Amino acid sequence: TLTLDFTNMMAGALPNGAGITEAQWREAAEAFRLAHRQVMGQQAQLGFLHLPTNEELLRASVAVAQDTRGRFDDVLLLGIGGSALGPIALRTALCAPQWNALTLEQRSGNPRLHVLDNVDPATIAATLARLDLSRTRVLVVSKSGGTVETMAQYLIVREALAQAVGEEQARAHLVFVTDPEVGSLRRIARAEGITTLDIPANVGGRFSVFSPVGVLPAAIMGIDVRALLGGAAHVTLLAEGEDVARNLPGAFAVLQWLSDTQHGRRIQVLMPYADPLRDLALWFVQLWAESLGKILPDGTSVGPTPLPALGATDQHSQVQLFMEGPQDKTVTFIAVRGRTDEGRIPARHADIPELGYLGGHTLGELIDIEQRATAGALAARGRFNATLHIDAIDAWHLGALMQTFELATAYAGALYGVDAFNQPGVELGKQFAYAMLGRAGSDAARTEWDALPKP
Ligand code: PA5
Repeated sequence: TLTLDFTNMMAGALPNGAGITEAQWREAAEAFRLAHRQVMGQQAQLGFLHLPTNEELLRASVAVAQDTRGRFDDVLLLGIGGSALGPIALRTALCAPQWNALTLEQRSGNPRLHVLDNVDPATIAATLARLDLSRTRVLVVSKSGGTVETMAQYLIVREALAQAVGEEQARAHLVFVTDPEVGSLRRIARAEGITTLDIPANVGGRFSVFSPVGVLPAAIMGIDVRALLGGAAHVTLLAEGEDVARNLPGAFAVLQWLSDTQHGRRIQVLMPYADPLRDLALWFVQLWAESLGKILPDGTSVGPTPLPALGATDQHSQVQLFMEGPQDKTVTFIAVRGRTDEGRIPARHADIPELGYLGGHTLGELIDIEQRATAGALAARGRFNATLHIDAIDAWHLGALMQTFELATAYAGALYGVDAFNQPGVELGKQFAYAMLGRAGSDAARTEWDALPKP
């Protein structure tokens, strides 16, 4: 149902001695045992492993989803980073294409989902102008309950809601998804009795897609959330063992880590050959980048650079670079099996050989062949690549894929020797912004900011 073919990462398959050698793989298997033990010892940060089997959280999301469908035509999600990318990836992958443009009937009675994941005034104004706020449920999603972008969105949307439906009624449109104890959102929720779902304290933003962060919007849109969590639970079980050959997320982590640290493949591309998985690649980029780009105690900077791509579209864009640019990349394809009979191409213009050959093939066959051709072409030129095969794009496989990447990230953190669960590098910029906005307690940041040379 979910397999990783990494033949094209290994010496033997690649020309001119390129590729991971058997000896490196054996040594890495040993390193993985240690990494696995280390990760399993970090229980305080492994809340994400328990989300797929947390019935209580699931029931809470389903109850709010039931209360939303039918009463609201639109759902507006306010959040950023891990609080937005998961819901966006789930919508793109598991809802019908062009979801927000479909009629209510085409959406089987489920609401549209709009995600504001930035503070660009033009986008926010355009979104609010388009929505009928009296029929809009607003989900405010923030683990910390205080992220500046999300809070700014909240203040604007709450004001607009109050103007549209009145202060009292506005509360009934709001749902907060946040930490069980701390943060401004929790405080407001307590004071005003706003419906609130928990993100467990030991679950960080980019690891939160199987908490109400992803499950609530998914359930509202009619996605089979039990199947989603089932796929994630399946991979969690698979990953219990220390043997990298039997641990799919472990194998992914080890291959990328070896490619980077032993072969200089520092740029790691995720390239699904399927439009519905386009935003999954963006979700992965945040997970991999924010978790692994760190400074070691000795001052060395480490971390691979993830890059999203989409097949076959990017064959006419980035693939030239992947084929002939610097030998500093791995490409992981995601290929969907079993759709080769979809989208028959009509047999027209049989008299033009350069066109006539397409007749009778299908689009499913074409996209599949293009993926295999690109993988083969990269391998033929010594370019590292691997393929994650899935049987279908459905809730179960999305759950399995996302948990694979989350676990791989935790393992990769241990292999690189970094804490995959923090993000100290984003702090300084935040502090400077707070200082400029005049937030209390920002004096030290203000002094450092003022001392910086300005253009
Ligand atoms: O992964 C992370 O922790 C971050 O990217 C957060 O998701 C992002 O900063 C938003 O934080 P919060 O959910 O606290 O608003």
